Amino acid sequence: MKRHALWITISVCLSSFALAQAPKGQGKGKGRRDTPAASSGKVRPYQNLWIPPVLSGKAIDLSLNKTKKSFWAGATTATYGYNDAQFWGPTVFLNQGEAVQLRVKNNLDEVTTVHWHGLHLPAAMDGGPHQLIQPGGSWTSSFAVKNNAATYWYHPHPHELTQKQMTYGAGGLIIIRDPIESKLALPRTYGVDDIPLVFTSRRFYSNDQFSFEGDNDKYGDYLLTNGTLDAQVSLPAQLVRLRILNAEIERGYYFGLSDNRPFYVIATDGGLVDKPIQVTRVKLMVGERVEVLVDLSNDQEGSSLDLVAYNSGMEFGFPGSEPGVRAPNGSLLNNLDFGMLHINVTAPKAQRITKVPEVLTRNRFWTSAEVNNHRTVRISKQRGGAGGGESFVFDGKSFDMNTTNQVVKLGDVEEWTVTNDRVFGHTFHIHDVQFKIISRSDGAVPTFEQGWKDTFYSPSGASVTFLAKFDDYASDTDPFMYHCHMANHEDAGLMGQFLVSRAPSSLKRNSAGVIQFREGMEHPLTPAMISKVERQAQTPAPSFSTTDLTGNPLSLAALTAKKPLILYFIERECPCARDAAPFLAQVQAAYGDACTVVGVINADTTTAKAWAKTVGTRFPIIADPECALIRAYGAERAVYTTLVAEGGVIVKTYPGYSAEMLKELSSNLARLVGMSERALALDQAPQKLVVGCPLQPIEKPLVAKLQ
Ligand code: C2O
Ligand code: CU
Repeated sequence: MKRHALWITISVCLSSFALAQAPKGQGKGKGRRDTPAASSGKVRPYQNLWIPPVLSGKAIDLSLNKTKKSFWAGATTATYGYNDAQFWGPTVFLNQGEAVQLRVKNNLDEVTTVHWHGLHLPAAMDGGPHQLIQPGGSWTSSFAVKNNAATYWYHPHPHELTQKQMTYGAGGLIIIRDPIESKLALPRTYGVDDIPLVFTSRRFYSNDQFSFEGDNDKYGDYLLTNGTLDAQVSLPAQLVRLRILNAEIERGYYFGLSDNRPFYVIATDGGLVDKPIQVTRVKLMVGERVEVLVDLSNDQEGSSLDLVAYNSGMEFGFPGSEPGVRAPNGSLLNNLDFGMLHINVTAPKAQRITKVPEVLTRNRFWTSAEVNNHRTVRISKQRGGAGGGESFVFDGKSFDMNTTNQVVKLGDVEEWTVTNDRVFGHTFHIHDVQFKIISRSDGAVPTFEQGWKDTFYSPSGASVTFLAKFDDYASDTDPFMYHCHMANHEDAGLMGQFLVSRAPSSLKRNSAGVIQFREGMEHPLTPAMISKVERQAQTPAPSFSTTDLTGNPLSLAALTAKKPLILYFIERECPCARDAAPFLAQVQAAYGDACTVVGVINADTTTAKAWAKTVGTRFPIIADPECALIRAYGAERAVYTTLVAEGGVIVKTYPGYSAEMLKELSSNLARLVGMSERALALDQAPQKLVVGCPLQPIEKPLVAKLQ
C-alpha cells in the first residue's frame, strides 16, 4: 500500500501516469515509441475522453472501415472503426424482448465476422468464426434479445485474424435494458452519469503504427481509454455509474480509485447482482465487464481523483505482471500501477441519483442438484499448435474449424471445470450461455464474480468450476465457441467448439470418432438438382390443403384461383434461408395483392413461429415437420423457390437465390400479372447463386415415453 500511495503522489504531479513510469523502450528492430514528450521536457496533457455515439432501435447498421486516428500530435495511426468511429465503434442499445436485426457491412479487404459477446442467441446468428463476411459483403444477424440488462460487446472473431482486427480497434459496446433494471433508481444518462469505459493498451512503433504479431504485440505500452490516450473526464458530484470493459489483447487489470474509497459493483458480465457489492479493488481480465457505482456526492467541485490500475506486484501468471519492457513479455506498463482515467469533479446535475439502492434484483442461479452432466476442459501448452511450435491448447488439441470438441444436449444444466497448467494465466470465455461460478481452486470466489458471468480469470495452476444451462437454441450444423479471450492465444489455437444438439447420439462421427459438423461450407448445386427443377416447368403443382401458423386455411386451389403463388422453402436453422427471406418479402411488397408468397419450413408450429419472429417476415408460413410438402415439390435444400401461375401450373423453380434470380423472378411475375416489372433493392443480394442447407424432417425425440 505504501508503494502505491507514494507512486500516486509522484504521478499526479507529473499528470501523466504512463510517462512517469516510461523507461526507454525498444522494439524488435523496428523501434518503439517510448517517451514522446521527454525530449521536449514537457508532460503529456490529458485528452478528453471520447464517448462512443449511440445506435438504437430494432434495425441496426454497422460497417467496419479502415480509418486513421491521431493519437500523438503530428502523427496518424492506421486504425479500424465501426461506422464513423476512428477507433472502436458506436454503443448499441437493445431492449430485452425485442426482435432485432443487426446488419454488418465489411469494408475491409479481408474477411471479418462480428460476434455479439455475451448474448444468448442461435449459433448461426452468433458471429463466430463460421459466419464469415467477405470483403465488400454484408451479413444480417436477427434474433430476439433474451439477455438481462447489462453491458455486453461486439468484436471481430475471424479465426487467426482476431488479434489483428482488434488491435486496429474494431469493437463496440452493447447495452441491454430490461424492465427490472429500468425500474431501479440508478444513474442511466449515457455519457453524463452513466459512463462507458473501454480499456486497451497499444504499442506504437516508430512509424506511429500498431503491429499485431502474436506474443510480440500482446501488451501495449500506452493505455487507451475509449481509444483516448491520457484520458480525462468531467463527472458531476453525485452517484455515477461506470460500465467497464477490459478490451485488451492480453493485459489484466486490478483497478481501484486513487484515494482507495469503496465503490459498488452492481452488475457483472450478464446482469445485475442481487445487492450492490462494496469493494475497493476489482480484478478484470480480457473480455470481462463490470458495472460499478462511484459516489462523488461529497467531492468538491474542481477536485479530482483517478481510476488506477494497481497492477504492480501481482501474482505469477497475471497477464502484464512480467517485469521489464522488452517484447514479447515486457511493456512500458507491465508490473506497474498506472492511471486509467483522470476524473474532474464538476457541479451536480439537478436530476440525480443520490443513494446506492439496497436491492437490485433476485437472481435464480442453477444449482449443483440440477446438473445433468459434468465435463472438464484442460488448458496446457504443447507442440502441435497452428505454427508447429508450442502453443496453448484445450485438451491437447489445437482449434480446428471442422472438429466438434464437445456436444451438449439441449436443455441440460452442465458443470464445467476449466483446469490450467502452471505455465501462465488465461481468460476463459464461452458463447451461448451466462453461467454461475461455483468454485475456484485458487481461493474463494470473489464477491465481484458472484453474478452472471460469461468470461473469467483462469489463473496459472488453478481450476474453476461453473454451472450453465444450454437452453433454447440447438443446431447440428452451427457450433458455438469456447476459448481463451487473449486474442493472441485464441488465434494460436486455444479455442474449441461445441454443438448444442437435440439428439447428441444421432450426430454422425467419422472413423476417428470426430464429429465433422458441416459437410463443407459451400452447398453445391448438382447437375441432378438442375435437371430436376428444369423438368418441373409446365407441370401441375402438387396440390395441398393445410393452414398457416395462425390456423388460416391455405390450399393450392384457393391460392392460385386468381393469382400466381410463390412457394419459398425454408430449413429451420439455415442461415441462407434467413438471409433470403427479406427478399421474398420485398417481392410480396412490390407486387402487393397481385401475388402471394408463402413460406414452407421443416419445423413444428412452435419452431416455425420462433423462426418467423426472429426473421421478421410478414408472409404466411406452413409448418411441414415431416417434409411432406417439401418432398412433393422436390426441394432438397433450403432457399428453393417455386413460381406457380394462376390455375396451378409451375412456371419455374429456382434451386437457390441471387440478385439475378430475384430479378428474373420479378420479371416472370410481372409478365404473369400483366404489370410493369417492379424494381427491387438487390444491392445486398448475393451475386452468385446461394443454395441453402439440406431439408430434413425434424428428428423424433429419442427418449421413448415412459408409462
Ligand atoms: Cu468475445 Cu468468442 O468472444
Ligand atoms: Cu490464454
